[in-house]
Amino acid sequence: MNIIVVKDYNEMSYQAAQLIAEQITKKRNSVLGLATGSTPEGMYKELINLNQEDKVDFSEVITFNLDEYYGLSPENPQSYCFFMWNKFFKHVNIKKENIHLLNGITENVNKECKQYEDLIKKSDRIDLQVLGIGDNGHIGFNEPDISLNTQTHLVNLTTKTIKANSRFFNNVQEIPKQAITMGIGTIMRARKIILLANGKRKARVIERTINSPITTKVPASVLQLHNDVTIIADQEAASKFIS
Ligand code: GLP
Repeated sequence: MNIIVVKDYNEMSYQAAQLIAEQITKKRNSVLGLATGSTPEGMYKELINLNQEDKVDFSEVITFNLDEYYGLSPENPQSYCFFMWNKFFKHVNIKKENIHLLNGITENVNKECKQYEDLIKKSDRIDLQVLGIGDNGHIGFNEPDISLNTQTHLVNLTTKTIKANSRFFNNVQEIPKQAITMGIGTIMRARKIILLANGKRKARVIERTINSPITTKVPASVLQLHNDVTIIADQEAASKFIS
């Protein structure tokens, strides 16, 4: 694992955007795997700036988002689809047909997962996958104790995740208890992975991701098996790892 420790959130966002821009410069039609959550928001702002300054061109780029709450429609402001359009897609020159998002209100969830997985395979492979990390080490919505070779699938969220994400909802009853997520197997097939983490809240889990024996109890620790992972962590998130 390549670990980059940066000063703060802004620096983390800047570095992540630079890696994505480099990837697109190398390959105009790169396939990107994208994440949501508060962590990558700054990275999206940086990418929007780079696009507006004509330093990165999304016109050939293809994207697949990692996950979606099951039961939330794309118009729901808490859905990841809404997040992606508002915080990123509508501000850059990406083609609508090149954007892939999971449908949280699909009538046939197994079919939705299979189709998504097939589309990823059809696009060859994800060139660069961006990840955040949950407090319990989940990546996407792959919660602890998930099996290692999962494809896109429906998951039950743990109480810890529901609680952690409750800050985005008016009350805990509104939070979906299930989600659709790319599996660990899907993520591990990406050519390159960058994982972002900031703040003290992530210090313990970053330490475990890097140092603990590989265990499904900390899903992100499985990334130790991938040959091209870069973790960009700010000093707070890296504090337990450094000391
Ligand atoms: C959610 C998402 C993850 C994300 C995690 C951390 O559970 N499914 O993809 O990494 O939250 O979120 P945050 O970046 O807000 O800490």
